[in-house]
Amino acid sequence: MFQDRVLSGMRPTGAMHLGHFHGALKSWVRLQNEHPCLFFAADWHALTSHYEDPSVIESSVWDMFIDWLAAGIDPSKATLFVQSRVPQHAELTLLLSFFTPLSWLERVPTYKDTVEKHAEHGRDLTTYGFLGYPLMQAADILIYRATHVPVGEDQVSHVELTREIARRFNHLFGRERGFEEKAEAAVKKMGPKKARLYRELRTRFQEKGDEAALAEARELVGDVQNLSLGDKERLFGYIEGGGRMILSEPEAVLTETPKLLGLDGQKMSKSYGNAILLRDDAKTVSQKIRTMPTDPARVRRSDPGDPEKCPVWSLHQVYSEQSTRDWVREGCKSAGIGCLECKQPVIDAVNAELAPMRERAAGYEEDPTLLRSIIQDGCEKASDLADETLRDVREAMGLDYR
Ligand code: TRP
Ligand code: SF4
Repeated sequence: MFQDRVLSGMRPTGAMHLGHFHGALKSWVRLQNEHPCLFFAADWHALTSHYEDPSVIESSVWDMFIDWLAAGIDPSKATLFVQSRVPQHAELTLLLSFFTPLSWLERVPTYKDTVEKHAEHGRDLTTYGFLGYPLMQAADILIYRATHVPVGEDQVSHVELTREIARRFNHLFGRERGFEEKAEAAVKKMGPKKARLYRELRTRFQEKGDEAALAEARELVGDVQNLSLGDKERLFGYIEGGGRMILSEPEAVLTETPKLLGLDGQKMSKSYGNAILLRDDAKTVSQKIRTMPTDPARVRRSDPGDPEKCPVWSLHQVYSEQSTRDWVREGCKSAGIGCLECKQPVIDAVNAELAPMRERAAGYEEDPTLLRSIIQDGCEKASDLADETLRDVREAMGLDYR
């Protein structure tokens, strides 16, 4: 309905690892070739939970951007920016907060658990900011009228909340005086043929709830060339009855959950010390994998093992072809191969994957001003887009003083 636009963000956690690459980053790289994309460092989000320790944020942000670029995010295709450098996010968060019921935030599935988990580590998250963090995320998305939001499973409920907020906003503030007349005038502007089709589809949706008609009508409106943005919004809203669609409801795009585990078989995470970093050099990669634990049943070279009980197997599943995997399964169960032998193809494959990334990263490490200027450009672009939405939001909420 609105123009295709992808938005996603990550909390700055510093250097990225293979789990990030096979999870989010690979899908971002694919998406940047298919749609206009915006990717940002969610530094304010980091402060909602780590407000006591802000000193690492800046360096984490730069490290994270270097790794995004190393992984293949192309700044000529995607817009990269820092959340706090586009402070319009904060204004929208505030404006949305006025009509967001507290209960919507309290029932976000992860809320209570996270507060309790942090309390065990002596961190108090019973703050206004932490409760509001999913609302800030909604503002991050809505301020760009993003249509697609690539996220992991744990974030889907936040995108769902964002949809509810957009719907509530449109319902509360999308009504304007004389809406029907203005919408009818906009229908006529489409020309007789398209106007007839629009009316037909609208009736089919309103009388029979035909979702396909809704989708087709939205596409029809989206494709019309000679309409102002205001008229388009009216026509989108008019299909369903209500008023103008000022904010668009985004869809979550699930990024693949990586099969890849950490060196110890747990989830890969820098804080567990079980991660292979995108900028690890070849020797470090080799050493990390060579010292990985294997199936504990294989004490001696002559003891047979079971790949299902070995974290190296998860690497083979990501990196090895069928023939290699057959060789592993057979050789492990019969004690025909040793563990170091088994690990070698994975070491080679990881190093082959990381080689071009190290090279790209080195370019940015050597020239920090290049990175700064990419991000500066990105922040300016993002800021312009944010202003467009915010102008409409302010106007709809009665804040357009003249
Ligand atoms: N909350 C997300 C996380 O913790 C990061 C994030 C912030 C985000 N704002 C966003 C993701 C907007 C997608 C869209 O991973
Ligand atoms: Fe793991 Fe391979 Fe050793 Fe089997 S042979 S225990 S799969 S490292």
